[in-house]
Amino acid sequence: MHTCPSNATIHLEQVTRTYAGGHSPIRAVDRLTWNSAQRGFWVVAGSSGSGKTTLLQIIGGIERPSSGEVWVEWRPLHQLNETQLADFRRHRIGFIFQGNNLLRHLTVYENVELPLLLTQGHGQAARIRHQLDLVGLADRAEAYPADLSGGEQQRVAVARALIHRPCLVLADEPTANLDSSAGLALFDLLRALPGELGITVLVATHDPLLIDRAPALLHLVDGRPGTAEARKR
Ligand SMILES: Nc1ncnc2c1ncn2[C@@H]1O[C@H](COP(=O)(O)OP(=O)(O)O)[C@@H](O)[C@H]1O
Ligand SMILES: [Mg+2]
Repeated sequence: MHTCPSNATIHLEQVTRTYAGGHSPIRAVDRLTWNSAQRGFWVVAGSSGSGKTTLLQIIGGIERPSSGEVWVEWRPLHQLNETQLADFRRHRIGFIFQGNNLLRHLTVYENVELPLLLTQGHGQAARIRHQLDLVGLADRAEAYPADLSGGEQQRVAVARALIHRPCLVLADEPTANLDSSAGLALFDLLRALPGELGITVLVATHDPLLIDRAPALLHLVDGRPGTAEARKR
């Protein structure tokens, strides 16, 4: 069971991220101030190019803000050096990407075990089995990714993102390569995690079907909260 502090998981203060553009710099995230408040499930919505990926990468310590403050799990990411940031990413965050990035020469079990080998130097069979059970893949442990459906592969990616017990899971367009029923099933699995594990989950998507089902929404337009921003809960 996770034991995550219950409050203040993400706080962004005037966060801007610019990239060099052709004529003028692009502001992928533009003076964004946002607080996730208590733990739960969030959808980061917005059309392509609205800054969703950049925002998730800043929150996950993959990218740095050009300016502003980024507090995640009580850590000031904007002040950490590279080593501290890498350590934060590896231990504190679970990532799920659009393409699942599973290693195809490893079994389902071995793919889920890998983060434990990297962070702790050894696997833990009972924990890995439990995690596969949680995502409904207990009986596919010895299969290879190519033997699985797209939806099953993404569920392996969920198990892999959870295995080191992060308090924050970031999923960037996790359903983009799935058909709508597999996409909805994966979305429902992700949406249940905060209640089951006491963690925070952020899902970036531009899919209206998923956005409609979001209990809480951060809507981005040009790197800023859009007019549709709302917390429905
Ligand atoms: N590495 C980069 N270099 C230059 N421009 C980038 C880079 N990453 C993102 N951008 C630009 O920043 C904006 C936001 O992109 P992104 O965060 O990927 O949005 P989304 O995930 O919502 O599609 C876009 O205009 C995109 O072209
Ligand atoms: Mg994106």
